[in-house]
Amino acid sequence: MKKLPLLTLIVVFITTASFTLFQTKPWVVPADKAKAVNPVKSDAESIASAKTLWSQHCASCHGKTGLGDGTKAAQLETTPPDFSKATTQSQSDGSLFYKTSEGRNDMPSFKKKIPDQEDIWNLVNYMRTFKK
Ligand code: HEC
Repeated sequence: MKKLPLLTLIVVFITTASFTLFQTKPWVVPADKAKAVNPVKSDAESIASAKTLWSQHCASCHGKTGLGDGTKAAQLETTPPDFSKATTQSQSDGSLFYKTSEGRNDMPSFKKKIPDQEDIWNLVNYMRTFKK
């Protein structure tokens, strides 16, 4: 029976490791979706309307300025990425649109909650303002 704690430890380790691997699995966007062209010009109007949506739907996890430091972030199993960094900013508008619509893990799907596609494109424009 002395081996039990060690076994438990091994099981916990494997579970944690595979969970971490699962989390960091790249989020693949279908090529046609990634290539989708943003039909909404990033102007003051687009940014202003996205700002309201961002504070209603996104800031709780992603933080006010997209750093991933929202009030709910600590309770999540997957960490929201820092949107000021190239890992997010180097992705196409179509990819950010797709990820916002579809969601995965702790990231909710917004295609029902924000049904107007123009609103999601506005949010894509808004996420670009987080670039440092
Ligand atoms: C409940 C918390 C939560 C809310 C609310 C939320 N997100 Fe997320 N978001 C996440 C998490 C966690 C991830 C990372 C998911 C992953 O990689 O599996 C993520 C990832 C993303 C990504 C992909 C970023 C990248 O670099 O690949 C985008 C884009 C995004 N969110 C946009 C939004 C927008 C826009 C809203 C509001 C309309 C929003 N999110 C609301 C938790 C949230």
